[in-house]
Amino acid sequence: MTKVTLSIIKADVGSYPGHVEAPPELIEACEKRLRGALENGLINDFYITRCGDDLELIMTHYNGVDSKEIHKLAWDSFNDAAKIAKKAKLYGAGQDLLKNAFSGNVRGMGPGVAEMEFEERPAESVVVFAADKTDPAAFSLPIYRMFSDPFSSAGLVIDKKMHQGFTFEVHDIKDHKKILLNTPEETYDLLALIGNTARYLIKRVYRRSDNEIAAVISTEKLSRIAGKYVGKDDPVAVVRGQSGFPAIGEILEPFAFPHIVAGWMRGSHRGPLLPVSEMDARPTRFDGPPRMMALGFNISDGVLIGPKDLFDDISFDNARRKALDIADYLRRHGPFEPHRLSEEEMEYTTLPEVLKKLEKRFKKE
Ligand code: 13P
Ligand code: 13P
Ligand code: MG
Ligand code: MG
Repeated sequence: MTKVTLSIIKADVGSYPGHVEAPPELIEACEKRLRGALENGLINDFYITRCGDDLELIMTHYNGVDSKEIHKLAWDSFNDAAKIAKKAKLYGAGQDLLKNAFSGNVRGMGPGVAEMEFEERPAESVVVFAADKTDPAAFSLPIYRMFSDPFSSAGLVIDKKMHQGFTFEVHDIKDHKKILLNTPEETYDLLALIGNTARYLIKRVYRRSDNEIAAVISTEKLSRIAGKYVGKDDPVAVVRGQSGFPAIGEILEPFAFPHIVAGWMRGSHRGPLLPVSEMDARPTRFDGPPRMMALGFNISDGVLIGPKDLFDDISFDNARRKALDIADYLRRHGPFEPHRLSEEEMEYTTLPEVLKKLEKRFKKE
């Protein structure tokens, strides 16, 4: 059976006002490109959304992961949208398009990518996550809980196909190395790594019983790609659900706890992760708080059935309320850590200039 590929490629190519929302004109520009690709058979289906100022192209096709044609299609779509953004003098027009010419793959060029290829199951349920005002490490805690915490995913205990556990592919984004770790037996080693959210990121998860791909997360760190502040790495992820994978409700359950993530205001503050509907993915308070959207689809012969807006549900109201209380509390720390990120993690800083200016006035104590 031929395998279908699900590709999520995202970029911030401009928004208004400030970093709030990518306007519909940008979605329309991408839509025009993707419709063309659908007509000429390059892609099988697509859905475009935006999470805050980030555009997400959700595409199904039969070209495999890292396909040059698919990446070029995304790159061209984002460039079309960036042109409109520039013309309309939107904020941060072309923000995530770091190179002028396409060179075969969008990785390292600014956009974020989460792709997986698989044989469709009789019912192929997937959840596509998109976040704004945070970074890929925002997925570490929830992905860990989906695939390793039996208090969150009951299937780990009671589903025969999940019971053997999962393999985590963890990337060291400083030294550009990766490692595979098996849970449950290497749980403590896994946590020792991914508890460091500035350095270790979960890239993929596989089911141990048959090595099937279960989840993939975009791990591109824009600030590392560009060497200076260029916006953040607002991530996307795909998780397969049901039939030996976590149930949809087990995939969503970790987000009932609004954990603290990096990336709020100027990519330099921590805040709670607010689970929101597509409609509410328009961050305004102190440019946040950081947000997460979840869209559910079933894939049928390469066609996307959906989306279902999964956080558009009252059962996440308590998480949202708690998140907003945490946001109030953290905001009162103003420029102090732990609200503000550490010096190494901040994407904006004046400290080198301040230190230089004050250099001569520092005396031995
Ligand atoms: P890939 O596994 O997709 O090559 O990811 C590379 C990466 O993003 C390392 O930071
Ligand atoms: P984005 O990364 O979503 O563009 O946000 C930039 C920012 O710093 C807003 O405060
Ligand atoms: Mg932006
Ligand atoms: Mg953004």
